[in-house]
Amino acid sequence: MELGPGQSGIAGLTMGEITLCCLHDIRDGGARALEATLDGKPTALVAVRRGEDVWVYRNRCPHFSVPLDFHPGEFNTYRGQMLMCAHHSALFRFEDGLCIDGPCQGASLEALEVRRDGCWVLLEG
Ligand code: FES
Repeated sequence: MELGPGQSGIAGLTMGEITLCCLHDIRDGGARALEATLDGKPTALVAVRRGEDVWVYRNRCPHFSVPLDFHPGEFNTYRGQMLMCAHHSALFRFEDGLCIDGPCQGASLEALEVRRDGCWVLLEG
């Protein structure tokens, strides 16, 4: 098979996109640890899901620049709406990563551009 410009050979995936996971790998109202190579470095990410919507952030709290999970992969969420930092309980909105309560109120998680193709969550390159 010959590939044209911008084609990867995987249906629906364009060059530079990274498949992170299937939407259904993330509990509805929950969070899941992911990892991707960004700028040549392995980078810890966290995906949060509400229904059919998913958002992906770097797994780094803006308070002390540490991972949001105390035990790797164990995230706390609040009412399926917010992601809670395990260290000092800052609460971040799923939909934009804004901290609405806690020691870094007003700061935001670093968002990554993702899109869905069926169940697949793709990180845009
Ligand atoms: S390190 Fe996340 S709230 Fe302090």
